[in-house]
Amino acid sequence: MRRKFVAGNWKMHGSLAENQVLLDALNRGIANLGQIDCAVCVPYPYLFQAQNILHDSSLSWGAQNLSQHAKGAFTGEISATMLKDFGCHYVLVGHSERRSLYGEDSVLVAQKFKAAQASNLIPILCVGETLAQREQGVTEAVVSEQLDAVVLLCGVEAYSRAVVAYEPVWAIGTGKTASPQQAQEVHQFIRRKLAARAATVAEQLRILYGGSVKAANSNELFTMPDIDGGLIGGASLDAEEFLKICSSAH
Ligand code: 13P
Repeated sequence: MRRKFVAGNWKMHGSLAENQVLLDALNRGIANLGQIDCAVCVPYPYLFQAQNILHDSSLSWGAQNLSQHAKGAFTGEISATMLKDFGCHYVLVGHSERRSLYGEDSVLVAQKFKAAQASNLIPILCVGETLAQREQGVTEAVVSEQLDAVVLLCGVEAYSRAVVAYEPVWAIGTGKTASPQQAQEVHQFIRRKLAARAATVAEQLRILYGGSVKAANSNELFTMPDIDGGLIGGASLDAEEFLKICSSAH
């Protein structure tokens, strides 16, 4: 039985003062939710703050990106071991904003995935198609290519220490959520595809849905058989809303 998991992706939002309020509220709220896995992926400069506020909380924290390199002359980059220094459990890799705005291709994303695991971080691998790709009927081919790059570099067993997030690009920040059936179709495809190589790994893999998830639609999404939780953008910046989403995964 897979345990549901809800992660917030703050993207480039927050300040010391705002985070203090948000994290305090989440800290209090999460304590009442019982056995559920939740995390927030915060901007790098606020990892220290997250660690200070959440160290005794069941809410975990992580980052939104990392370098594929372990160390060296890579100005402006952040390594997996640095993230571990600040108590991160998770790191997003291959978010569609990184792929589209910063030119990260699936090979680079797989290298980041590998670097994360080498430091015992759990990578949350984001996959998903654009609207044009969906309309061309190539959703499965696009998602396959994104998943296969990791299999090629790390082997399929690497998915036993990772989370996958299906985020259709057309549903991110648009208010346009994939219907539970549309999302389920792709989640089932992902699981079956990996199951063809490693049945147990696929059965245990948590596959999150992301894209305009809010408290009003999370319940319906999370009851689909292959949807194991959510990756939440905008709604994760509002404590009450995020806690409601976490509790609907309970
Ligand atoms: P929204 O929930 O704001 O649509 O963002 C989704 C997302 O990109 C999470 O990584």
